[in-house]
Amino acid sequence: MEESNLHVEGFFDSATSTVSYLLLDRATQAAAIIDSVLDYDPKSGRTRTASADRLLARVAELGARIEWILETHVHADHLSAAAYLKEKLGAKVAIGDRIASVQQVFGHLFNAGPAFAIDGSQFDRLLADGDMLPLGNLSIEAWQTPGHTPACLTYVVRTGEETVAFVGDTLFMPDYGTARCDFPGGDAAMLYRSIRRILSLPEATTLYMCHDYRPGGREVAYVSTVSAQRAANVHIHDGVDEAAFVTMRCARDAQLEAPVLLLPSVQVNMRAGELPPPEDNGTRYLKIPLNAL
Ligand SMILES: [Fe+2]
Repeated sequence: MEESNLHVEGFFDSATSTVSYLLLDRATQAAAIIDSVLDYDPKSGRTRTASADRLLARVAELGARIEWILETHVHADHLSAAAYLKEKLGAKVAIGDRIASVQQVFGHLFNAGPAFAIDGSQFDRLLADGDMLPLGNLSIEAWQTPGHTPACLTYVVRTGEETVAFVGDTLFMPDYGTARCDFPGGDAAMLYRSIRRILSLPEATTLYMCHDYRPGGREVAYVSTVSAQRAANVHIHDGVDEAAFVTMRCARDAQLEAPVLLLPSVQVNMRAGELPPPEDNGTRYLKIPLNAL
């Protein structure tokens, strides 16, 4: 049998439990990076590019040509390296077209002022449901899968032989369940419907998670299938109805603390990975809104 031209590699960042992906069309060497990480130390306020440089090294090793830097959503637990990678690679940065509603909420929270556009224009491409991005001989289909945030996307790639989907923060591995829905614009019922849509893909579809929290200290794992999720996802296996899911999800969310990097992440990610503009002394600052969340 002919080998598929679709090649996927995952890169796990243990500091934030995030998985970044490299998606490659072997026939043409066209490639995309999905959900990159800019390292950030909250104690010193220093950013580092070790995670992004690891991706760049692999891109060079494979001889890949990065055409797209994709975000599944505005992450609230790690900074995106999209701006850094764009500068290095010249690729286009894409996100869901509902980003404006997220920018509106967080632009207001951080009092970003009129210099911060809330129309998504920091990104090169805003994707609507069903939009197709070319990647060599492959196509990446954008699905709006809101719930965790209002602007979440899942990226679906179908070849003649297989279907794969990068699900962002909708599903996690079957033993961990699903993503929280208590961020601004989050909605558990919406997440349920988005996940059921993902799980309507063929049973053999490979699903790539954006996070792995290693429940029980097990080995890192971030690749699953539709059939495995339907059989065993602890929150949303077949048979769990919407009402039961929403009750469970809301009760669980009420117990969760804010992610450690929530405030730094959102301020950078709402700007497509650019750090906030420097002040008149040349230094860039992150803000902490007090008693506002
Ligand atoms: Fe997220």
